[in-house]
Amino acid sequence: MNEGIEHRSFDVLVIGAGGAGLRAAIEAAATGARTGIVCKSLLGKAHTVMAEGGIAAAMGNVYAEDSWQTHFRDTMRGGKMLGNWRMAQIHAMEAPERVLELEQWGAAFDRTPDGRILQRDFGGHRYARLAHVGDATGLEMIRTLQHRLVQNQDVEVLMECTVVELWKDGDRIGGAVAYRRNDGAFVAISAKAIVLATGGIGKAFRITSASWEYTGDGHSLALWAGAELMDMEFVQFHPTGMVWPPSVRGILVTEGVRGDGGTLRNSLGRRFMFDYIPDFYAAETAATEEEADAWYADKRANRRTPDLLPRDEVARAINREVKAGRGTEHGGVLLDIASRRDPDYIRRRLPSMYHQFKELADVDITRQPMEVGPTCHYIMGGVRVDPENGQSSVPGLFAAGEVAAGLHGSNRLGGNSLGDLLVFGRRAGAGAAEYALGLPRAPAVDHGTIESATARCLGPFANEGGPSPYSLTRRLQELMQSHVGIVRTGSELQEALQTLDELESEARAMSVEGSRHFNPGWHLALDLRSLLAVSRCIATSALARRESRGGHTREDFSRSDPELGRISYVLREEPAASGGLSVSERPLPQMPPDLASLFDGDGR
Ligand code: FUM
Repeated sequence: MNEGIEHRSFDVLVIGAGGAGLRAAIEAAATGARTGIVCKSLLGKAHTVMAEGGIAAAMGNVYAEDSWQTHFRDTMRGGKMLGNWRMAQIHAMEAPERVLELEQWGAAFDRTPDGRILQRDFGGHRYARLAHVGDATGLEMIRTLQHRLVQNQDVEVLMECTVVELWKDGDRIGGAVAYRRNDGAFVAISAKAIVLATGGIGKAFRITSASWEYTGDGHSLALWAGAELMDMEFVQFHPTGMVWPPSVRGILVTEGVRGDGGTLRNSLGRRFMFDYIPDFYAAETAATEEEADAWYADKRANRRTPDLLPRDEVARAINREVKAGRGTEHGGVLLDIASRRDPDYIRRRLPSMYHQFKELADVDITRQPMEVGPTCHYIMGGVRVDPENGQSSVPGLFAAGEVAAGLHGSNRLGGNSLGDLLVFGRRAGAGAAEYALGLPRAPAVDHGTIESATARCLGPFANEGGPSPYSLTRRLQELMQSHVGIVRTGSELQEALQTLDELESEARAMSVEGSRHFNPGWHLALDLRSLLAVSRCIATSALARRESRGGHTREDFSRSDPELGRISYVLREEPAASGGLSVSERPLPQMPPDLASLFDGDGR
C-alpha cells in the first residue's frame, strides 16, 4: 500500500449520503455486503435536506382514481417523452411502497383527516400525489434514513471526506481515492462495487438552489473512469428561487406554494401564465382566471391552473416576462399566496417558506407577495445506467439519484426526485451488493492511480502566483449562467467551450495558500476540476442538440424536432476527440405497446 496513506476496504462503497446514498447503503448492508459510505458533509447534512415539497407517489390517498399508470404518463410527458420508459415505469410502480416503508421507519408525514398520508398538488402531476412533511420533506427523509442506517452497526461512515478519483482493476471498478477535509489526509478505499449517489452540478451556475456539495463529483468521477454520461444538455431551472436580497439569490421557494394556492403575477399585476399554455397541455389547463380559481377552490375541477405547468414551461415564461420589461425591480416576478389563503393555513402548510422570507428578506408571506425567479435546480443528465439495477457501462460502478440519467428525460417533474432517490437508491444498493458478493476476489489496488491522484491534488500548493480557485470558480459560474443558461444559442455555446479551454488551462496553474488543514480554498480548487468537466459536458451536449426540448432551449432552434425526440446524446472521455469528449447518438428504447397506448390521443 502507498506509504502513509490510510486504507479501507469494502464490498460496496457508497459515495454520497443523501437520500439515494443512504437508501443504497441500507439495502447493500441488509444483503450482507460489507458497506461503507463516504460523504463530503457531516452525516445528516446532505443536500437532500433542502428538498421541500414532497415525494411523488400514486398512493391514491387524496384522489382514489390516481394510479401508477397516470404517474408514469405524467413523468414521460413532463420529460417530453425523452425519459427511459422502464425507469419511469419502475419509479411509478414502486414509489408508493418506498413511501410506506419510510413511514414504517418513522417518517412523520402530514395526514388526511382520516389518518392517511396527505398528498399535495405539484406541477405536471395530474393528481395531488406528493407525500410531504410540511415544506421540509427532505429533512424528514434524511432523518429517517439516517436513523435506520445507524441502527445497522455494519456500515462505516467516512464523513467530511471527498473522493477525487476512482481506480479500476482491468475493466472493472476497484476503488476510490479520497481526502479528509479536516486535515487533508488521503484515504485509499478498495471496493468491489461503488454506488455513486453524489447528486448534481448546481454550483456550476451563479444562481442556484444547490448547496456547496453540488460540484458534479459523481458525474466527473464516472466520466474519468470510462463510464458514459447521457442527456447532459438538460438542466432544470426551477421557476421560483428567491431573487432579493442578493445574498440569498437562488434559494429554493418550493413549488408547494403554488400547489397550495400561490399564483404568479408580473409587475403589471397580470396572471401571465395564461399567456404561456402550450397546445400540448391546453386541454387540461384552465384558460381563464375564473377556471383556475375554481380549481383552487375545489381541486376536483378538471382543468388545473397554468401556474402548475411543468417547470420548464413556467421558468421560460418568467424569463420572457422579465426580458420583456414586465419583471420586478430586482428582476423577478411576484408569487402571491397571501391573497388566497389565510395566515394560519400558510404558516401551517409552509412553515419553512414563512421563516425563510421573514428572516432572509424581511417579507411576511402571509401578507406580502414573494419576489421569485428561475434558479438552477437539477440536472436531468448523468450516468447512463441499467434501469433494473443502476449499473453503469463500467462493471461494478453503479449510480442512483440525480447523478444517474434516464428517469426524467428532458425535464423532471417536482416531487419525482425524492421518489427517484428511494426507488433507485434501493435498487442500486441491491445491485451493487449482488455484484460484489458474486465476485471471486477483491480488486487489485492501483498504486499508480493513487500516487498520480494525490500528486495532482497537491499541485496547487506547489504553484506560485497562479490564479485563485475563487476567481476561476466565479468566472466559470458567470460563463455558465450567461452562455449555457435557460436560453442558449449555438454561437454562445461555441464561445463557452472556448472559454472553458482557457479556464481549464488556467486551472492547471492555480495556486492555493496555507496548509492541508481546514483549507476551503484548496477544497474548492479540487472541486473545480469536476465543475469544469461537467460544464464542458453540458455545453458540448447542448451544442449537439439542435432543437428545444424540456430543460434545453435553443433560441436558434426554437422548436422540438421529432427525430431528435428519439435519441439521447451520450458522452465519453476520449482524449483524441475535441475537448476530450466523444459525442454519440443513442436511440431511446422502444416502449412496449401496452404502455404506449397510455399516450393515445396525445398526438405524439
Ligand atoms: O419545489 C420544490 O419543493 C422542489 C421539489 C423538487 O425539486 O422535487
